[in-house]
Amino acid sequence: MSNTIAVVGSINADLMIHVQRHPQPGETLHGSGGLILPGGKGANQAVAAALLGGDVHMVGAVGDDANAGPATSRLRSAGVDLDQMRVHPGPTGLAVVVVDARGENNIIVIAGANDSMDAVAVQEADEVITQASVVVLQGEIPRSGIERAAELTTGRLVVNLAPVLEVDRSVIMAADPLVVNEHEASLTLELLGCAVEPVAGGVGKHEDELAMARRLLKEGVPSVVLTLGADGALVGDGDSLTSVPSPTVLAVDTTGAGDAFVGALATRLALGWSLRDSAAFAARVGAFACTATGAQPSYPTEHDVLPEVG
Ligand code: RIB
Repeated sequence: MSNTIAVVGSINADLMIHVQRHPQPGETLHGSGGLILPGGKGANQAVAAALLGGDVHMVGAVGDDANAGPATSRLRSAGVDLDQMRVHPGPTGLAVVVVDARGENNIIVIAGANDSMDAVAVQEADEVITQASVVVLQGEIPRSGIERAAELTTGRLVVNLAPVLEVDRSVIMAADPLVVNEHEASLTLELLGCAVEPVAGGVGKHEDELAMARRLLKEGVPSVVLTLGADGALVGDGDSLTSVPSPTVLAVDTTGAGDAFVGALATRLALGWSLRDSAAFAARVGAFACTATGAQPSYPTEHDVLPEVG
């Protein structure tokens, strides 16, 4: 097996819009920005991993429109192998990303060419996926493509179920780790048919998230990384469940910070680091990615100084 990372997932053009605050339903607001930046959870993770030294292959699709260029510009400059990137007739995936003055975003995604990444399309990249030491999946391509990629994986499978979509239980049970935020953890547990009651008041911070991470592990997920934004992440495998902190930064735009986390995590797992150490490194990369606008343009290279936990 080679020491490569295969990211099987989405490639988008992100239309970035800045507003003072998010609009109410029916309200019109003035905004600024309007730039098209490279995005998509899969491409973001691939770029983050490549900038941090990973040997990364992207398995995905763009359309044959004008947005394909900007969507793939950073993949190319970061040195991601695009031999398994298909061009599908029609539009490239498009995300409308609205960021407010606090750096919080709302995103609407139009799948475009990402919808062509079904089991048949993923199968065409079987060699790259089978030979990768780490395969990374997210939830922005069709279910059948995700399931086929998981079946083809012989290395370590990182499943970032974002957004959560209904996939075969076997995908979640092969995730080592499953990377989810609190909302995704809750929806994943619903998918698995597990109810986790909210912990009654008066207990410590993140008790609900701890309960969800424990339950996912108990259900049989090999390992779990439950991300907590500015509070870092819970990391669990086997019998151990610990937390890793995140450095404190002044957040300008959180878009794609979770993807930077996943890409960084994959690079360290590919190097043989422990899950906990990989997640601690990933939390620092995720924090760095909050300090500038956009997803991929905010990602650190190997030469950048990452923020320290304080
Ligand atoms: O996670 C951030 C990403 O989600 C954006 O880049 C956008 O394309 C959407 O896929």
